[in-house]
Amino acid sequence: MSIIEKAIDRLGEEPPAPRTAADAAPVAEAPRERSTIEAALTSAPPVPAAPDAAGAAPASPPLDVLALGLEGIISPHSERSRTPEEYRMIKRPLLQRAFGGDAPLGVHRNVVMVTSSVAGEGKTFTSLNLAISIAMEMDRTVLLVDADLAKPGLSKLLRMQDSPGLTDRLLDANLDLKDLLRRTDVPKLTVLSAGRRHRRSTELLASNAMKDLLDELAQRYADRVVLFDSPPLLATSEASVLAEQMGQICVVVESGATPQFLVKEALDLLQHKDRVSLVLNKTKRDLLSGQGSYYYGYRYGSGYGHEKDAAEA
Ligand SMILES: Nc1ncnc2c1ncn2[C@@H]1O[C@H](COP(=O)(O)OP(=O)(O)OP(=O)(O)O)[C@@H](O)[C@H]1O
Ligand SMILES: [Mg+2]
Repeated sequence: MSIIEKAIDRLGEEPPAPRTAADAAPVAEAPRERSTIEAALTSAPPVPAAPDAAGAAPASPPLDVLALGLEGIISPHSERSRTPEEYRMIKRPLLQRAFGGDAPLGVHRNVVMVTSSVAGEGKTFTSLNLAISIAMEMDRTVLLVDADLAKPGLSKLLRMQDSPGLTDRLLDANLDLKDLLRRTDVPKLTVLSAGRRHRRSTELLASNAMKDLLDELAQRYADRVVLFDSPPLLATSEASVLAEQMGQICVVVESGATPQFLVKEALDLLQHKDRVSLVLNKTKRDLLSGQGSYYYGYRYGSGYGHEKDAAEA
């Protein structure tokens, strides 16, 4: 049985004996918050301009992210909730793999795809929370890209539907990236919107232009984390082609909703199993309370040292 199969089987098993949060180091689990992102799309209070620490064109006004007060999204005021702690547990291994060792030639570990098997599992929620969490707490600049070109939920959420972005750059390599990046009210967070709608938008994700852009991003911004909110793996063939170019792939799994066979099917599409992590999202279990907690998140492939194992899996 492969590493992948074992991991997926664990998702279908009864939860193991309760463990304390301290025992559960590699857990990648995101909690379910009370309401949806959409419900929180209310009017945004004005925010003061933030310094441009992230390479975006200084002329553009900072984009409201925190000021939107999105339900379930990390902010400096949510420190007491368990959400920030859950994302700390997800981001630590991600950062370790991104910057903590030598990657094989041509593999940009700082470039991370957030995907899922099917729609609605929480990719946008996870990528935005991860991005804010890393930018707020670590000495790392984050570039968050809306690469779900057919369904640009992140751009919509951040009210960037009308901003030029990824699609525009893929169609015109002469556009300067820094003119498309938007700095935000999180000083180390920059966002690239999905850009204009285009009938071939999904195909563009698997294009040479995308490959070139990824190389450019990884090299130009080698010291930052580049997170891609991406389409679901089973929705379009381009998603798995895109995954091949990524240094890390976070597969979000909706707890109690996505059937095990779909997760298996999605993971079968991924060539580089050693780059894959699973994030179990919307779980009702409180990992950190110590009461009724379970070790339930799962990750496979363990970074640079395990590529051989993963290849054999
Ligand atoms: N951990 C969570 N806690 C609370 N709500 C969540 C959580 N994760 C996702 N949601 C909610 O579930 C819905 C779907 O999440 P999201 O938009 O992030 O999914 P998605 O995978 O990006 O969907 P799509 O495939 O349509 O782009 C949203 O309303 C979001 O607010
Ligand atoms: Mg989405």
